Amino acid sequence: ELYNFRLIKPDTKVYGIIGKPVGHSKSPLLFNAAFKSVGLNAVYMHFLVDDVEKFFNTYSSPDFASGCSCTIPHKEAALKCMDEVDHIAKKIGAINNIVRRPDGKLIAFNTDYIGAITAIEDGLRALEGAKPAPGSPLSGKLFVVLGAGGAGKSLAYGASQKGARVVVANRTFERAKELANKVGGKSLPLCEVENFHPEEGMVLANTTSVGMKPNMDQTPIPKHALKHYCLVFDAIYTPKDTRLLREAKEAGAAIVYGTEMLIRQGFEQYKNFTGLPAPEELFRQLMEKHA
Ligand code: ATR
Repeated sequence: ELYNFRLIKPDTKVYGIIGKPVGHSKSPLLFNAAFKSVGLNAVYMHFLVDDVEKFFNTYSSPDFASGCSCTIPHKEAALKCMDEVDHIAKKIGAINNIVRRPDGKLIAFNTDYIGAITAIEDGLRALEGAKPAPGSPLSGKLFVVLGAGGAGKSLAYGASQKGARVVVANRTFERAKELANKVGGKSLPLCEVENFHPEEGMVLANTTSVGMKPNMDQTPIPKHALKHYCLVFDAIYTPKDTRLLREAKEAGAAIVYGTEMLIRQGFEQYKNFTGLPAPEELFRQLMEKHA
C-alpha cells in the first residue's frame, strides 16, 4: 500500500517527487514507510510535472508542501526557482532535494554527490583497515572521473571538495577540459585513460552510460588498465553488477555499486526533510524487496 489516505488530514505534511516520467520512482514507497515507522504525520507522493516553473509558482504558497525530490528532466531547471541553493549544488548546476524552511523559503541541495562520495569514502576506509586515518580518505588521492555530464560534474566537484586530485576523462574532450578547469583538475580524452597510470592506487568513478542496460557487454575502460586502481565506482545501477565492476573485482580493486549511491542519496534527502536520522535498514530492505 503506497498511500494511506485515511491518515491524511488538513495538517498532514505533503512531500513528493517531481519528474517526467515519475511513476516508476520507488521514493514514495521508501519515504511513506519511513514516515510511518516513526509516526510522522506526512505523506510522500508522485508529482508528474511538465513545467517546473509553473509548478513552483503554485508550490511557493507556504501552505502547500514541505519538501520534494526532483528527478529527470527537472534537476537543472528547478534550480532557478529556489530561494537558496547549497553552494556545491550551485556549482554542479543541479538539485534533487528541496526543503521548505520554517520561514516558507525553499532551499535546495544535491544529495546525489553526497551519496556517491560517502559511499566511495566508506569503501576506501574499509581498505585502510581497523584504524582509518582522520579526515577524508579521498584527500590527496588521484581520482579519475569518466564522463562529464550531470553525474560527472557531481563526482568531480564532490571529490575535489574532499581534497582529491581530479582527472576528468570524456569522449568529447572539450567537455572534459571545461569540467577539469572548473574543479582545478586535469583532463584526458576517454580513449587515453587506459594508458594513464602515473601512480598506483588511484580511484575510478564511471559516470558515462557505457555498460548500462541494454548494452551490458560494454565497458568504458579495458580490463588491463584496472589493476592501477584501488577502488572502482560505477554510477550505473541497471544492471547493478556492470562489466566494469566485475572486471575491477577480478583485477583486485575494491568496488562500490551505483545502488549504494542511490540509496545513500535517499538517506540524505530524508535527513533534510525531517531533521531525523534516516532509517537506513528499512530503506535497504525495501530497495531489495522491490528491486
Ligand atoms: P548524466 O546526467 O547521467 O551524466 P549526460 O549528461 O547525458 O548524463 O552524460 C552522459 C555521459 O556519458 C557523457 O560524459 C557522455 O560523453 P559525451 O560528453 O562525449 O557525450 C558519456 N557517454 C555516453 N555514451 C557514450 C559512449 N558510447 N561512449 C563514451 N561516452 C559516452
